[in-house]
Amino acid sequence: MPRPQVTVIGAGNVGASVAQRVAEAGLADVVVIDIVEGLPQGKALDLAEAAPVVGHDMKISGTNDYADTAGSDIIVVTSGLARQPGMSRDDLLAKNAGIVRSVVQQSAAQSPGGIIIVVTNPLDAMCHVALEASGFTPERVIGMAGVLDSARFRTFIAQELGVSVGSTHAFVLGGHGDTMVPLPRYSTAGGVPITELMSAERIAALVDRTRTGGAEIVALLKTGSAYYAPAASVAQMVDSILNDRNAILPCAAYLNGEYGVDGLFVGVPVKLGRTGITQVVEIELSDDERAAFDKSAAAVRELVETMERLSAAG
Ligand SMILES: NC(=O)c1ccc[n+]([C@@H]2O[C@H](COP(=O)([O-])OP(=O)(O)OC[C@H]3O[C@@H](n4cnc5c(N)ncnc54)[C@H](O)[C@@H]3O)[C@@H](O)[C@H]2O)c1
Repeated sequence: MPRPQVTVIGAGNVGASVAQRVAEAGLADVVVIDIVEGLPQGKALDLAEAAPVVGHDMKISGTNDYADTAGSDIIVVTSGLARQPGMSRDDLLAKNAGIVRSVVQQSAAQSPGGIIIVVTNPLDAMCHVALEASGFTPERVIGMAGVLDSARFRTFIAQELGVSVGSTHAFVLGGHGDTMVPLPRYSTAGGVPITELMSAERIAALVDRTRTGGAEIVALLKTGSAYYAPAASVAQMVDSILNDRNAILPCAAYLNGEYGVDGLFVGVPVKLGRTGITQVVEIELSDDERAAFDKSAAAVRELVETMERLSAAG
C-alpha cells in the first residue's frame, strides 16, 4: 500500500515546520510547494538530509509545480503574506484570499479526494475561500486554530498550577482572534475544572493571555509570527485524520445549524477521522458563553462579508 502523502503549500516558517513534524513523526511522505523557486526544493532537501540522523524513511520533496502534488491525502495551506507596514487589514484580507483561492484551485485539481487544512490568516475567512475554490464537501475543509489556541491555554494552566501539560485539557470555541471563547469550566487539570483550582482573577488573566497569544509572540519576534506550536497543531490534526483516530479537537468547521449557526466556519469541537470531520460535537452553553460565542460568530460573518465586498469590487 502506498504511504499517505501530505502536500504543504507555502515553504515559509509554518509550512517547513509542518513538513518536518509530519515526516519526522512518520505520518506521511511530504511534498512542499511554494511560489518562490528553490525555496521548497532547498528546505525539502535539508529536511530529507536530516532523515538518516532522525531515523525515518518518509520522502520529502520540494517543487513549484502542482503536478508533483498529485494524489495527496491532505493539503495544508500555509501560503500567504504577513501584514506589512502600511497595509490595512482589508488589503491583507484581499491579498491572502487571492493567494488561497489560486493555490487551492490548483492543488484540489491534483488531489480531488484530499482533505484541506487551512492555516493562512485571517483563518475563518480563508476557510470560506478554500471551501469555494476546492468544490470539496464541507467535512473535507478544516481550519487550524483551536488546537493552537487550546495548546496555549494548556501551557498557561500548567505553568500556573505547576503541573504537567499532559495533565491539562483546555476547551476553546469561536473564531480565531480576539473574540475566541476559552471555556474555563470545561478546562481541567487532572480532570478537575480549573474553576476549582484557581481564582477567577487568575483564570481571567490566563484567558486574556490566550486570546492575545499570537500577538505576544509577534511582539517578541518582531519579524514574524509563531510557527512551532502552529505546526505541531497541524501535525496533530494530520495524525488524527490519517490514523482515523477520531480525536476530538477544536477546529474551524463549516456549521450547518450546529450551535445555531448556518453557513459559517467557526471554531467548535469536532471529531477528525479518515474522511475529515466525522462529527461536530455540540455542548450546552451557559448564557454568558452563548453570548461570547454569538459575538465571535458575528465577527467571522463580518469578516466574510467584507471579503465578499472586496472581491466584488476588485
Ligand atoms: N491559523 C493559525 O493559528 C496560524 C498560526 C500561525 C500562522 N498562521 C498564518 O499562516 C500563514 C503562514 O505563516 P508563516 O509564518 O509560515 O509565513 P511565511 O511568510 O514564513 O511563509 C509564507 C509562504 O507562503 C509563500 N507564498 C506566498 N504566495 C504564494 C503562492 N501564491 N503560492 C505558493 N506559496 C506562496 C511565500 O513564498 C512564503 O514562503 C500566515 O498567513 C500566518 O498568519 C496561522
